[in-house]
Amino acid sequence: MCGIVGYIGKRDALPILINGLKRLEYRGYDSSGVVVLDEKTNVYVKRAVGKVAELEKSINGSDWLRPGLGIAHTRWATHGEPSERNAHPHADTDNNFWVVHNGIIENYKELKDELISEGVDFRSDTDTEVLAHLIAKYYNGQPSSPGRFFDAVKKTLQRVRGTYGIAVVSKFEPDKIIAARNSSPLLIGIGDGEHMVASDASAIIHLTKSVIYLDDHEIAEIRRDGFRIETLDGNSTTRKPSLLEWDAAKIEKLGHDHFMHKEIFEIPEVIENSIRGRLILDEGRAKLGGIEDAKDTLRKIERIIIAGCGTANVAGRVTEYMLEEYAGIPTEVDAASEFRYRKPVFTKNNLLLAISQSGETADTLAAIKEAKEKGISTMGIVNAVGSSIARDTDFGIYNHAGPEISVASTKAFVSQLVVAALFTIFMGRQREMSLTMGKRIGEQLKELPNLVKKVLAQENIIIEIAKKYKDMPAILTLGRKYNAPLATEAAIKFREICYVPAIDLPAGEMKHGTIALIDEKFPSLVIAPQDSVYEKIQSNIEQISARRGPIIAITTEGNEEIKKFAQDVIYIPKTLEMLTPILAVVPIYLLTYHIARLKGHEIDKPRNLAKSVTVE
Ligand code: G6P
Repeated sequence: MCGIVGYIGKRDALPILINGLKRLEYRGYDSSGVVVLDEKTNVYVKRAVGKVAELEKSINGSDWLRPGLGIAHTRWATHGEPSERNAHPHADTDNNFWVVHNGIIENYKELKDELISEGVDFRSDTDTEVLAHLIAKYYNGQPSSPGRFFDAVKKTLQRVRGTYGIAVVSKFEPDKIIAARNSSPLLIGIGDGEHMVASDASAIIHLTKSVIYLDDHEIAEIRRDGFRIETLDGNSTTRKPSLLEWDAAKIEKLGHDHFMHKEIFEIPEVIENSIRGRLILDEGRAKLGGIEDAKDTLRKIERIIIAGCGTANVAGRVTEYMLEEYAGIPTEVDAASEFRYRKPVFTKNNLLLAISQSGETADTLAAIKEAKEKGISTMGIVNAVGSSIARDTDFGIYNHAGPEISVASTKAFVSQLVVAALFTIFMGRQREMSLTMGKRIGEQLKELPNLVKKVLAQENIIIEIAKKYKDMPAILTLGRKYNAPLATEAAIKFREICYVPAIDLPAGEMKHGTIALIDEKFPSLVIAPQDSVYEKIQSNIEQISARRGPIIAITTEGNEEIKKFAQDVIYIPKTLEMLTPILAVVPIYLLTYHIARLKGHEIDKPRNLAKSVTVE
């Protein structure tokens, strides 16, 4: 996710800001930038693609002054590819106001159109730039007063819909930083004759331990010697500083011991981010910016081939079920590494859909190349904006899951499923899906963040289960229909972080060989929500139980009967069948995380594995 750091005080701002950016690197980013201002209204700006070290390199040797005011940013692209022109800070036309921003301005298109109609030229593809121009507009429209800059930012934010943590500086008032937040964290660091602002305490913990966390809809004016906070509707607020008690490592993980754990707990927010602004409920439609222009091509698609690797491949398998059942489009899924070497047969109007978190996986990229060679349309469901897959495909949808640090993919998988459901609505509504069904899926999607929170609340029950099974020699994972792919996802996690051999099967396949393995030492994880195939999987459960195999079952709330056969039961709330994997995967992630943790494994970086596999 993007990171913000700002400084005002008696010291040189620049090295403090660069150091702050380095401390934010762990969050993941693709470019960075910094602006510092002196009291003579000189402004120094640098932006660079890639590591903060690149930014630093571009600064060395330049003729920088050493003022005590500046703001800086690490960007994780959401609108516009990672490039110098899209990196923050962004300014108005006359370079009088400089903004760094985390979050997404949902109504930026209409604000941008308004500004363009007033003659403003945009220099980037970002949503953030509208903020700088609006601030300039409102500043110019106000009479001179001590609060003029502050009021211009406030007025701007009153026009904005979406999420933001921002820090703004101005040439006209080079004695302050204006900061504000809505659903994107921001805190003020209190020092002696100096203040900081940051999106994350790890950027400033070496400078101060005394901080004030801004609340949503609050705006602050931060000076060398003090600060004031107001709500956006004009009420001033006072707050006692909090003391940072964690060390930097713990702060990076927001108090979680591992990124994997943090990312599992981010799932409700990730679902919200993936659907934000994309559902038009009254019309039962999904509005997906990245594929709107390809509407006509997509209307003609008669067959979809999905390619992905690892967890992204599993997401593809769930997507297959969704697209076939609700959009009526024949769909198949390939391991990208197979697709590139077999001789796929294409018919008329085929689409290759590549799913990838990083957008850089070599096999998936090669599959796209192969499809292009054959003249087939290509589409991506990608998390990393501006990545190779995002650029190489004809069109696509971004996940907006934020950077995923843990090698084992969790929140990105969930966002892939959410985007798949939105894509299914999009494709279905172009075909036979009714308005009522489109609406129904949309409504259920909106419910998911709260339902996931209910599952996360069962962590203690899951820890107890983890304790019981941590020394198991191997495990069988089973699911059916929408949850058959989840059996594979569970097995991947058991193997990659728990180092437990795991065999995954669509449950109906168990009787063809694997059942021979079952005895009291060989447990099974059975994903068995009460859906259209529940009775089928119940018979698997009974067969395992008859052979004294221990069972961990994931089922729907209220299913008491299952306890007759399963020793350990984890409940998930009821939702639409096609969305059950989004809920059922959460306990799988918590269970495998806690088993790995009890075994003392290095969870975020499991042995022999890489987050992004850019070689064949
Ligand atoms: C690696 C990662 C997996 C991921 C897979 C595909 O194996 O460890 O977590 O699912 O690559 O990566 P992608 O970035 O294409 O989704």
